[in-house]
Amino acid sequence: MSKAPVIAVVGSASMDLTCYADVLPQAGQTLYGNLFTTGFGGKGANQAVMAALAGADVYMVGSIGNDLFGKSLQENFRNQKINSEHVKISDLPTGVAHIWVDGQGQNRILIVPGANHDFDANHAADAIKSIPGLSIVIGQCEVPQSVTTAAFTVAKERGALTILNPAPYEDLSLELLAVTDWLIPNEVEFEEFIGKAPTSETLAQFRPGKNSIVTLGDKGAVLISTDGSLTSIATTKVQAVDSTGAGDCFIGSFSFSLGSGSDAQSAAEFACRIAAFSVTRKGAQSSYPSAAEISTLS
Ligand code: RIB
Repeated sequence: MSKAPVIAVVGSASMDLTCYADVLPQAGQTLYGNLFTTGFGGKGANQAVMAALAGADVYMVGSIGNDLFGKSLQENFRNQKINSEHVKISDLPTGVAHIWVDGQGQNRILIVPGANHDFDANHAADAIKSIPGLSIVIGQCEVPQSVTTAAFTVAKERGALTILNPAPYEDLSLELLAVTDWLIPNEVEFEEFIGKAPTSETLAQFRPGKNSIVTLGDKGAVLISTDGSLTSIATTKVQAVDSTGAGDCFIGSFSFSLGSGSDAQSAAEFACRIAAFSVTRKGAQSSYPSAAEISTLS
């Protein structure tokens, strides 16, 4: 049996407060919803949990509040066997995401970052320096970019692979891009990044010399190799109930698979299958397959 990859996720951990309704209200309108849930979220924590469920040895590097939500997130890390010694306890409240999901499973999310914005580059760099056997570092955009850049810089010095999911999209610094091995936006983030929709031409010219993947929701994903060649990755057709956290599910499972020695195409195919499964259930982390379910999807 191959050794589990050691993955560090530098990123957000939040509590998701989700309302489900057939139709979402317009400004000034009041409607009834069907269900309210409180669930574990934050793009960073979601990616960490998915990588751990798939079998990686995961370290979370982040910041949570000294409050009930923070305590609950810490307990979740313990339950998921994620090392949280580098999760700082901040004086700011734990981050929350207010999520609305409509009858088609599409969501709208409003994030209040709180503690997620209260950790600095030194904290992240020191954490990444100290993790034994590190193979991959994952980042997103729900924590300050200076933090992700510092973490990735140390990761590269250590010979680890860096994977950036630019979500939610913000302009990326040249410093961060220079230390990013894999850039994995969704189609909306791709368009925000280069100002053009993904087509075979725009995809082939994306980040010459570097690896990227653009995720395309129910159309799968496209893998962009360093020479600009494109490989379409098909996904399983499913009845979507809630797409929240599906992108994070892709990142966590892709990182696990790549870190376990799979080639990029096989890793992306695996990640598409796992992410498709996740949209058939409600919530972010609550929708991810268990280890037993993953073995049926592998
Ligand atoms: O990607 C989904 C996540 O985005 C949710 O869990 C929510 O916390 C927001 O950060």
